[in-house]
Amino acid sequence: MNSANFDGKAVLVTGAASGIGRATALRLLDAGADVMLADRDEAGLRRATSSAGDGKQATWRVYDAADAGASSALVDETVAALGRLDVVVCNAGIYHRAHFCDIGQGDWDRMLAINLSSVFRILQSAIPHLEANSGNAVTVASTAGIHGIAYAAHYAAVKAGIIALTKSLAVEFGPTGIRFNTVCPGKVKTSIGAGLEPLENQNEDLLVRPPKLAGRVDGGEPEDLASAIAWLASDEARYVSGSVLVVDGAQNIG
Ligand SMILES: NC(=O)c1ccc[n+]([C@@H]2O[C@H](COP(=O)([O-])OP(=O)(O)OC[C@H]3O[C@@H](n4cnc5c(N)ncnc54)[C@H](O)[C@@H]3O)[C@@H](O)[C@H]2O)c1
Repeated sequence: MNSANFDGKAVLVTGAASGIGRATALRLLDAGADVMLADRDEAGLRRATSSAGDGKQATWRVYDAADAGASSALVDETVAALGRLDVVVCNAGIYHRAHFCDIGQGDWDRMLAINLSSVFRILQSAIPHLEANSGNAVTVASTAGIHGIAYAAHYAAVKAGIIALTKSLAVEFGPTGIRFNTVCPGKVKTSIGAGLEPLENQNEDLLVRPPKLAGRVDGGEPEDLASAIAWLASDEARYVSGSVLVVDGAQNIG
């Protein structure tokens, strides 16, 4: 799975300053790709690119997915910097927990803007480049987008939106040769949930956490997702499009 060759390919990874995005960017750099790492966290971007090692074609841009104009500008900047665009990994995301009735309009709008609208804009802007290069896109959804999750209904809703968006584009652009796939991570050891406190009056029986989880209840590593994303983005997966790849160590079975 990790033998994929990305020599000569240009890749954009959002949310690349940490976690799954960072691991994916480093994996693709190791496989020979030129990679644009984009994130709102400049210090994290600097750390990620410096850890890529000498001889790797890593560049970065500060990017705020909440800014409606920033996503198409990021695609233009990527093509200007790397000279082409073959693969887009839409990974940037936030997580927020609240009782459903406490989710404010601002919470909803922010979740939609960062986790879904940015994906729409990046993919729309990337289409001509992906079509020119028979490229592909990998989006990062969540098992929450398949099963739902208590106390994060807005998060689950946008992740379901990513799945539907990705599958729809796979169908609509199938004749052009562009592939679209999504990965659905289960619990992965990253900073996305760091510092979250239990909600007042939350019902522990509704939480999708041990002992309800099956399989690898300890959670996966960001590199486990990077492997799956790199494979989907590679020519090894040339007949894979419209797929929803659950990467959760069987946590959600049963
Ligand atoms: N870790 C998990 O358990 C898990 C489970 C399911 C899905 N996911 C998804 O995986 C993706 C990556 O998350 P992660 O777990 O690696 O967490 P992470 O917090 O380590 O990484 C998320 C990255 O997105 C960036 N980001 C957040 N808001 C942004 C914005 N407005 N503009 C630009 N960048 C922004 C952050 O700075 C960070 O670098 C997310 O889409 C998340 O929803 C994670």
